Amino acid sequence: MIAGKANAGQFVVLVIDEKAERIPLTLSDWNKDTGSITLIFQAVGQTTRKLSQLKKGGSILHILGPLGHPTAAESTGTVVTVGGGVGIAEVWPVSRRFKEAGNKVIGIIGARSKDLLILEQEMRASCDELYVVTDDGSYGEKGFVTDALKKVLDSEALRNIHSQVRVYAIGPVPMMKAVSEFTRLLKIRTTVSLNPIMVDATGMCGACRCTVAGKTKFACVDGPDFDGHEVDFAELSKRLTLFKEQEQECATK
Ligand code: FAD
Ligand code: FES
Ligand code: MG
Repeated sequence: MIAGKANAGQFVVLVIDEKAERIPLTLSDWNKDTGSITLIFQAVGQTTRKLSQLKKGGSILHILGPLGHPTAAESTGTVVTVGGGVGIAEVWPVSRRFKEAGNKVIGIIGARSKDLLILEQEMRASCDELYVVTDDGSYGEKGFVTDALKKVLDSEALRNIHSQVRVYAIGPVPMMKAVSEFTRLLKIRTTVSLNPIMVDATGMCGACRCTVAGKTKFACVDGPDFDGHEVDFAELSKRLTLFKEQEQECATK
C-alpha cells in the first residue's frame, strides 16, 4: 500500500518491536508492481542498530506512510541536487523526480570518506552530471559538497542563468545551513529537507517543531521540505540534541 502511494521526498515511520521507539526513514525507492519499498539507513544508535541486525525474512511490527508532502518538482530548468552522507538516500529519489519533470539535473554527493559514500551508480544514472567529493579525499575530489556547489554554480553553463537554477539539499544540518547561506548570496531558490526528531509524525506531538520564516512549523506535516533561506538552523541543531544523554545511555544497551 505504501509503494502504491509513495512519492519523492516522503518518508515512513517504523516501530521494530513492542518495546521499540518510532523512527522516521526516507522512502528511497519503491516498486508499485511488486509492492516493495527501499529504506536506506545508517546504524547510528539503538534503533537503527537493531534494524541492521534483522535477517532476511525477518519482520518489523509497524510501519506508517507515506508521510510528509512530496517534493514539489516542477520543471524550472536546471536543478542542482546536493546530498551529504546518508542524505544521499533522499537526494536519489528527488533527483529522479526532478529529471522526470524535465529538468537538467546536476547531482553533487559527498561523504566523510569513501566507505561512507552510497548510491554513486544510482545517482549517476539519475542525473545528467554527477560530482563526488569526500572530506578526506579518499574518493572523488577532496572537499565538501559546498566546494563542489560553488564550482558548479560558477561554471560557464550556469554563471549567467542563476534565476533559472534551483538547488535542493539534504544532509547534516551544518551542510544544509552552509548551502543555504551560500545560495542566499546568489539569490538562488533553495529547498532543504529537514530532519528534526519526530515521534508521532502526524502533527500532534510537537517533537518536530521548527521555525521557518519566523513561524512555527511541524516538519512532519508541513514539510519535510522548506525554503532553506528561511529556516532557523540554530534552533534545529539545538533541538536535535535534546535527548543526547538518553541516546548515549541506550547505545550501550
Ligand atoms: P539514536 O541514538 O536514538 O539517535 C541518534 C541521532 O538520530 C539523534 O542524536 C538525533 O539527531 C537523531 N534521531 C534520534 N531519534 C530520532 C527520531 N525519532 N526522529 C528523527 N531523528 C532522530 N536516517 C537514515 O539513516 N536514513 C534515512 O533515510 C533517514 N530519513 C529520515 C527522514 C526524516 C524525515 C527524518 C526526520 C529523519 C531521517 N533519518 C534517516 C534519521 C533517523 O530517523 C535517525 O538516524 C534515527 O531515528 C536514529 O535512531 P537511533 O535510535 O538508531 O539513534
Ligand atoms: Fe509529532 Fe511532527 S513528529 S508533530
Ligand atoms: Mg533512538
